[in-house]
Amino acid sequence: MSELEQQLHAARTEAEAAIAGCPDLNALTQIKAKYLGRQGTVSTALEQVGKLPKELKPVIGKLANEVKRALDAAFAVKREELEAQTATSGPAIDTTLPGRRHPLGHLHPLTQVLDEAVRIFRRMGFAVEDGPEIEDEWHCFDALNTPANHPARDIQDTLYADLPPHPEFGRRLLRTHTSPVQIRTMLKQKPPIRIVAPGRVFRRDNPDATHSPTFHQIEGLYVDQNVTVADLKGTVEFFFQQMLDPATKVRFRPHFFPYTEPSFEIDLSTPHFRARGKEWIEIAGCGMVDPNVFRAVGYPDDAYTGWAFGFGIERLAMIRWSIHDIRLFTENDARFLEQF
Ligand code: DAH
Repeated sequence: MSELEQQLHAARTEAEAAIAGCPDLNALTQIKAKYLGRQGTVSTALEQVGKLPKELKPVIGKLANEVKRALDAAFAVKREELEAQTATSGPAIDTTLPGRRHPLGHLHPLTQVLDEAVRIFRRMGFAVEDGPEIEDEWHCFDALNTPANHPARDIQDTLYADLPPHPEFGRRLLRTHTSPVQIRTMLKQKPPIRIVAPGRVFRRDNPDATHSPTFHQIEGLYVDQNVTVADLKGTVEFFFQQMLDPATKVRFRPHFFPYTEPSFEIDLSTPHFRARGKEWIEIAGCGMVDPNVFRAVGYPDDAYTGWAFGFGIERLAMIRWSIHDIRLFTENDARFLEQF
C-alpha cells in the first residue's frame, strides 16, 4: 500500500472517530474544515493524486473520492442529529404559551354619551358652541334674568373663584350650568341660532350617589322667528328616542327657571323603566327664552322667539346603562369602566 493510501485510510478513521464524538455544531464545523476544507487532509491528498505515476492514479483517485464522499455523508448525518438536539434542548421558545394580551382602551362612558348627544343634534342642524368654565356673574346669572338675591348665586351653591372681579361682569365663579353659553352665542351672532353646548359645570355639593361637585350638561338653544313650544317638544322627544329607545315617551311639566317663560321640566319614560313599574323620571329643564334674556344681549323687542334646554350628561348615562352611583364616573375603577 502506498504512503498516500495509508494517509487516506488513517484520515478517514480519524475523522469518523472525531465526528462520532463531536459534542456540538461548532465543533463539527471545525472538524469538517480540518479534513474536508481546502487545506484539509483529504483535499491535500487529492491534490497529490495528480503527481502520481499513471498506473496508480485511478486506484488512489478512486479511494480519495470514496473517503471524501463517506466523510461528507457522515458530517451530514451528524449535523442533522446535533441540530435536532439544539431545537429541543436549546433556549426554550414554548410555542404553546398563550400570547400576551394588550388591552384595548375605549372612550369614557360620559364621553360616549356626550359624543352621541352631539351627533344626534348635529344631524338636526345644530352647531356646537363652547364657553369658559370660569365664568362671571353677569354671563352666568344677570344676563340670564337671575336676580342678585336668587339662591343659585348664594355662596352656599356656587363656587366663587379667588380672582379679582371683572370690572363690568362682576365676581368670577365656576359656572353652575352651561346656560351662559346661550348668552355668549347670542352676543356674537344674530338669529337664526341653533346650537348645543356640552361642557363641565360645578356646584357646591357634597358627593353622594346622586350628587357631585362637578358634572356635565348639554345646553340647547334655538332662536329664530316663530319658534314654538311644539318645535321644542318635537326636538327633545326625537333626541331621547334616538339616544335611549325609539319607544321613549316625553312629558313636559310646568316649572320655573328665570331665563325661560313658560318653563318646563322634562320627564321621560323608557320601556325599560316602565317594565320595572317606574313610569316617569325627571331629566331636564327647558322653556321659551324669556324676553329679558333677549334684552340682555341687545336683540330688539318682539323680533324673535326661541327655546332652550339643559340636561345632565351623567344622569342620561345613568339612565341609559342603569348606573346607580354618580361617583363611579370619576373614580377610575377599571372594573366599572370596562363595562362600557
Ligand atoms: N340651567 C338649568 C340647570 O342647570 C337647566 C336649564 C333649564 C337650561 C331651562 C335651560 C333652560 O336652557 O331653558 O338646571
